[in-house]
Amino acid sequence: MTGPEPIPVVLGVGGGIAAYKAAELARALVKDNCRVQTVMTAAAREFITPLTLAALTSNKVITDLFSDRGADEILASAVEHIQVARTHRMLIVAPATADLLAKFAHGLAGDFLSTLYLAFEGEVVLCPAMNSAMWAHPATIENLAKLAARPRHHIIPPDSGDLACGTTGPGRLPEPAAIAAKVHRILHQRHDLDGETILITAGPTREPLDPVRFISNRSSGKMGYAIAEAAAERGARVILVSGPVHIPVPEGVELVETETAARMHDAVMERVGQASIIIKAAAVADYYVAAVPNQKVKKTAMRLSLELDPTPDILAEIGRVKTDQILIGFAAETQNMVDEARRKLKTKNCDMVVANLVNQDGTGFESDDNEVALVPAEGDVVRLDRAPKRLLADQILDRVLGLRLQRHARGR
Ligand code: PMT
Repeated sequence: MTGPEPIPVVLGVGGGIAAYKAAELARALVKDNCRVQTVMTAAAREFITPLTLAALTSNKVITDLFSDRGADEILASAVEHIQVARTHRMLIVAPATADLLAKFAHGLAGDFLSTLYLAFEGEVVLCPAMNSAMWAHPATIENLAKLAARPRHHIIPPDSGDLACGTTGPGRLPEPAAIAAKVHRILHQRHDLDGETILITAGPTREPLDPVRFISNRSSGKMGYAIAEAAAERGARVILVSGPVHIPVPEGVELVETETAARMHDAVMERVGQASIIIKAAAVADYYVAAVPNQKVKKTAMRLSLELDPTPDILAEIGRVKTDQILIGFAAETQNMVDEARRKLKTKNCDMVVANLVNQDGTGFESDDNEVALVPAEGDVVRLDRAPKRLLADQILDRVLGLRLQRHARGR
């Protein structure tokens, strides 16, 4: 039995110390059923030999537009960059040096890789890696902004850590496995959410007690951000209303930052009308201090009581005003997960509630994994085994699309 056809991709290697990681990336891409055409700049060849990449990809490596070739060969290969551009689905550049980013941003085409970039019409994945000062330079920031705004361009930002130049900071090429995983997602992405606008809430809220203290919760935002990333990759316009978190905003997502439940309420209610699907993964405070003192509360030997008022229930309010939107709530429970989810489903007029147990190790708040039950208003409860939040995000969205189809089938 033969497997699926390999996907043709170009791996462009720039001249930086991280070029050695291109070998591992090439191997990961081949393992993921890609047919890899490597293109190396002259500087890249100072760091790693073409032979290494040729051996790993079982393919010749393109190094230059003209050098080391006779007249006949030059004529025959004069349009090689066009040929390569036409026959490959993705151009991955790792490491993308500051020099390459500048060339791409300004359309300079002095070597094979930059010429290929100009002729390329498929997906472009750029993995910048450089010294922290070069990364922070206004020229690099401007070049990256230009490139990020171009269609079908994906930037995988560098990691922070120890750099070859002896400093510590952002600039390290991410691990090849992480780049390969992102490449896989882009190559295999579905477009089943094209035309949808999805409003997602994520993260905790902070309710001030005084100018320096607040009440909050353990939500990291990972669950909501994972759904936002999955939805954007599947073609949706995503509006992400987020409480304060420390994770990067997924590519292509419109971020609205909020802090208190009241601000989150306003930000969401202002945008509900634009959304076809609303998913509320945020852990919103149920109470707040109405009379926040202007000055820091002093410590005394006396007992201190807090008077708390209920916050607006955003999900319930959307449930009251929604028209034909699909409304998905979350339920963070420590027991009777499905029963509690059913109760919230009814009282808040949701189309589905995603229930998760938040008192077991490795799932719920802060963790990379979760274990959830999907409790729809109509139909059976579906339990999803423990898995990374990003994987569950796609399964939740699959179910949301199922609800949409159910509705269409019933003509409403
Ligand atoms: O952010 P992570 O660290 O990845 O953790 C993920 C999570 C555990 C926070 C997430 O999976 C989750 O369960 N989010 C909902 C948490 C929560 O507040 O649950 P709840 O059962 O208290 O609220 C039920 C629903 O009402 C939620 O959709 C919530 O957003 C909404 N709500 C609650 C209170 C309020 N004032 N307004 C609301 O809209």
